[in-house]
Amino acid sequence: MNDSTDQRRPETVPVTKAVVPAAGLGTRFLPATKATPKEMLPIVDKPAIQYVVEEAVAADLHDVLMITGRSKRSIEDHFDRAYELEEALEAKGDEERLRSVRESSDLAQMHYVRQGEPRGLGHAVLCAKAHVGDNPFAVLLGDDLIDSADLLRRMIQVREEYGGSVVALMEVEPEQVSLYGCAGIEPTDEDDVVTVTDLVEKPDPEQAPSRWAIIGRYVCDPAIFPVLQETPPGRGGEIQLTDALRELTRYKPEDGGTVRGVLFRGRRYDTGNRADYIRTVVDFAFRRPELAAELLPWMREFVDRRGSGRP
Ligand code: UTP
Repeated sequence: MNDSTDQRRPETVPVTKAVVPAAGLGTRFLPATKATPKEMLPIVDKPAIQYVVEEAVAADLHDVLMITGRSKRSIEDHFDRAYELEEALEAKGDEERLRSVRESSDLAQMHYVRQGEPRGLGHAVLCAKAHVGDNPFAVLLGDDLIDSADLLRRMIQVREEYGGSVVALMEVEPEQVSLYGCAGIEPTDEDDVVTVTDLVEKPDPEQAPSRWAIIGRYVCDPAIFPVLQETPPGRGGEIQLTDALRELTRYKPEDGGTVRGVLFRGRRYDTGNRADYIRTVVDFAFRRPELAAELLPWMREFVDRRGSGRP
């Protein structure tokens, strides 16, 4: 909570830190995720989590805290230097690959904390408390890919304008609301910004407050930490970030309350879901001209063949 004698308006404290929870079990992707984190599954030739860190950096967040857990060492290795490999590439004069190998270790100031036990996204975020302190921070889910950094930049701007916390909302089909945290919303003067009045984690469709679903980007006021500490396990026996944010909607603005939503109408991929993962790989592959040229004739032939029922 903010001390009322503190002269700083909360929104004037800039957002400089990103927290990337990546300690989940990835059960939807077993057995691939038995020993490999789902966040390290490649999207063409880069692990999914690198795109997420690149997005944070593009939104000017250069301090990145990764929440990791068991079997997640490869994430730390990926963002570290790889001297032997670099020497070998240097000796071969393979400048292009050398650059690609160094890119991930030069990207941001990386920090790590282990969650210990995957007790839910809310608990993962609570693990960031010591690193984040009394500052607002962004949360980017390690398996959620968003097309550009515009959404995160806009969310930071909304935080700076209104204070409080900010969630990203995407409209989904009614039969899909039960897969997400869902928001009750009221309009504001800005077309793409709403006031969040309620939040429900994975509601039954008939109980959903709207079709606006929370996707994997948040800007949180530090007031979230004491709330998370008191949040009991919710849906699925996990400590839910959605439940803590819902509690914040009931706080006064001067206590770090108010939650706004930024309405997102772009493309977003949940790479922890098998079908979405495959879509992401195809979409990202076709963004590379050299791969697109090679893949397009095959894909046309494949669609024709499968469309006409041939194996
Ligand atoms: P998910 O629910 O998508 O991850 O959490 P999960 O639990 O790994 O997935 P499945 O359902 O078993 O396949 C969203 C994000 O929160 C992180 C995950 O790593 C993912 O990036 N998370 C989740 C944690 O860091 N800790 C947790 O305890 C739970």
